[in-house]
Amino acid sequence: MGRLVAVSNRVADPRNHAAGGLAVALSDTLNKTGGLWFGWSGKVVDASRGGTPGEGELHQIQAGNVTLATVDLSREDFESYYLGYSNGVLWPVFHYRVDLADFDSGGNLNAYRRVNQLFARKLAPLLKPDDVIWIHDYHLIPLAAELRAIGCGQRIGFFLHIPLPPRLILATIPQHEWLMRALFAYDLLGFQSHDDVEHFSRYVQGEAGAEPMGEYRFRAFHRTVRAQAFPIGIDVDEFIELGRADEARETYEMMRGQYARRRLLLGIDRLDYSKGLPQRLKAFQTLLAEYPENRSSATLIQIAAPSRESVDAYADLRRDMEGITGAINGEYGELDWMPVRYIHRSTARRRLPGLCRACNVALVTPLRDGMNLVAKEYIAAQDPEDPGVLVLSRFAGAAEQLKEALLVNPYDTRATAQAIQQALHMSLSERQARHQKLLERIRQQDVHWWSGEYLRALMETEGG
Ligand code: G6P
Repeated sequence: MGRLVAVSNRVADPRNHAAGGLAVALSDTLNKTGGLWFGWSGKVVDASRGGTPGEGELHQIQAGNVTLATVDLSREDFESYYLGYSNGVLWPVFHYRVDLADFDSGGNLNAYRRVNQLFARKLAPLLKPDDVIWIHDYHLIPLAAELRAIGCGQRIGFFLHIPLPPRLILATIPQHEWLMRALFAYDLLGFQSHDDVEHFSRYVQGEAGAEPMGEYRFRAFHRTVRAQAFPIGIDVDEFIELGRADEARETYEMMRGQYARRRLLLGIDRLDYSKGLPQRLKAFQTLLAEYPENRSSATLIQIAAPSRESVDAYADLRRDMEGITGAINGEYGELDWMPVRYIHRSTARRRLPGLCRACNVALVTPLRDGMNLVAKEYIAAQDPEDPGVLVLSRFAGAAEQLKEALLVNPYDTRATAQAIQQALHMSLSERQARHQKLLERIRQQDVHWWSGEYLRALMETEGG
């Protein structure tokens, strides 16, 4: 295989595994192939200080064997491409929240196209003929088409980290035909789950008259693309190792000391409406109302890291969360017990294994989620002799793999409360048996398996 060129909106130093996610997933292959990682620098440049829309400055730094190449965005592009179209249209619709999408601003679509064109223009001169290009996520759907338009013939793969919704939901996006057509400029499309692939297949056959060619291949717009599920995993050993380090151990000891007489429930999320946080809090409230033995005992630690705060839907959610936590704590709190510990800040990754291990139950209950790696991290962090229980939404991509979790419908707050009650009272032998199977599965399909399988498929795929 030639050099790996990874492209994503956010770029991290692959030597810094604390960055998690993609940095861990790509670092081996980037290192082995002397790769390039291209994307946004994270910097927003004000036009008054020299930035003009569409013209970002290119920065290149060497991170060991890997080159990081990033461009700045003008404020206008940041607001319209990142906040406006990527997170104001694509994110909500792909998470089935058509009601939250702002379809009206044509300026957002223009900026989305402009930034994808800018990325193509800045990336193309850095490419070598036998590079293998792997583009990530919804910010960059049209990037391969833009690269092809300026003459790039390399193999190009795409991986969508978020769900792909059913045909008629996709069709609510005014530019859905253009977006989906752009996917045919790739050689391989990777999705998180079989459901996503099914949605792609139905969409392209129903809306674009695509012909299924067998072996996951579809032909439309004079091109053939392969579409397959590759559920992303975590680096299980790395997370276990992180759990042995001082900071994780100290966090574990601190939690067990502070909450010695309590049963702990844990949620770790970005503060995002796709995560089902108000529904989760209501399920917890129902637990306290209907199973009073949990009062003065069960404590929900909910970490909700701030995210995309200038998008209205996120600001609204923040207010809702403050209202609901206040109501539950006001109604059930005691002088020596607060039912909900709500933390609207992010937590250092190094502390997560200790936090996960100290908690009896994890609540991973999104309304819709591409995968959800917190579910997998919680499993990896447990003591196999005395593991905690995972309560998992059936609408997270992870539910296709993690069948031994307690699967719930997060919209059904009463059933979710029952599942939490079951989790809190599960026998040791059942906890061990479920955990063993879950751990086996996340080890078999870990992050190295994910990138290996994807890149193997991309190398095998006959494009065109
Ligand atoms: C999701 C997306 C990623 C994104 C991340 C954080 O996981 O799939 O592409 O980077 O959220 O969101 P942010 O908007 O801060 O990049």
